[in-house]
Amino acid sequence: MPIQDQEHPDLDVIIDCDTGTDDAVELLTAFGIPGVRVLAVTCVDGNVGVDAVVRNTLGVLDAADAPDVPVARGCPVPLAQPTPDASWVHGDNGLGGIALPETSRAAVPLHAVELLRTTLTAADRPVTVVATGPLTNLAVLFTCYPEVKEKIERIVVMGGSAAVGGNSDATAEFNFFHDPEAAEIVLRTGPNVWLYGLDVFNSVTVPAEQVRKLVEHTEPAARLAGNLLTGMGKTWNRVDPVLGDTGAFLVAVWPELAQVSAHRTTVELHGAYTRGMSVVDRRADEDLPPYTDTSWSAVTVVWSLDEDALRGRLMDALLRPRARR
Ligand code: BDR
Ligand code: CA
Repeated sequence: MPIQDQEHPDLDVIIDCDTGTDDAVELLTAFGIPGVRVLAVTCVDGNVGVDAVVRNTLGVLDAADAPDVPVARGCPVPLAQPTPDASWVHGDNGLGGIALPETSRAAVPLHAVELLRTTLTAADRPVTVVATGPLTNLAVLFTCYPEVKEKIERIVVMGGSAAVGGNSDATAEFNFFHDPEAAEIVLRTGPNVWLYGLDVFNSVTVPAEQVRKLVEHTEPAARLAGNLLTGMGKTWNRVDPVLGDTGAFLVAVWPELAQVSAHRTTVELHGAYTRGMSVVDRRADEDLPPYTDTSWSAVTVVWSLDEDALRGRLMDALLRPRARR
């Protein structure tokens, strides 16, 4: 697996997201990292409905001064049963009430699953997928077009939690809670899955003075990120807001900044109180009873991060002057 060079990442990426305040910061960051080429952005129902996710994504790409990257609307509902959105966290519009100017961008006339398929099929080198919403689009992709998996180098999933419980209920993290069947399919069938769960999602914070620096900056991308982070801090009642989904993206670019280990992992689909919970087997192989079901997939769990380095990369990306389209 190639190690990404600190100064010069060289990476082709697809982002599958449910924009969302923290997904929005992720997009603003992604387009500020030289050497990272975002091949496509695919949208999924999650934090808010998929049409709002598409609208938010296109508007954020404007603020990011992103090139004309294809954006596609994806699955409008989870695979098996409806679940609540997260507008109580992200606001009715998904961006904490921040209204973006009208955009001249439009989604491509393709379903997200088809955009994923065509983009991966056309790729001439391995692609990293960063998934920061429910995994519905990817589950359909791997079910319908398993051949694209060979084009994927790594999937970094923001979802689940290895050892700290849930946020949507006592045991389930929101992205897995929203579509547990999709999460189970992607963990079981996806290639080289890295789990960026609540264990680390909540640990990386952005100091208030750095947020202020963003808010006061002249670049629209930095200002929007600062305003989003300010709102996220208020929502979670934190002076220093949690970085959220952006951490998963930064780990995809600089995996050497994460401490990880591989574990058999699955998703609970039937529990009376635990549907959507990620189940991570932390036992050592030599301690397993003979009846253990060893068919669960090995997933790479992110346990901790070089937080200072990540914050540095974040600020470099967000403060970088953008080339105007
Ligand atoms: C995840 O849920 C969403 O609300 C956030 O965007 C993030 O992807 C955290 O549980
Ligand atoms: Ca998200």
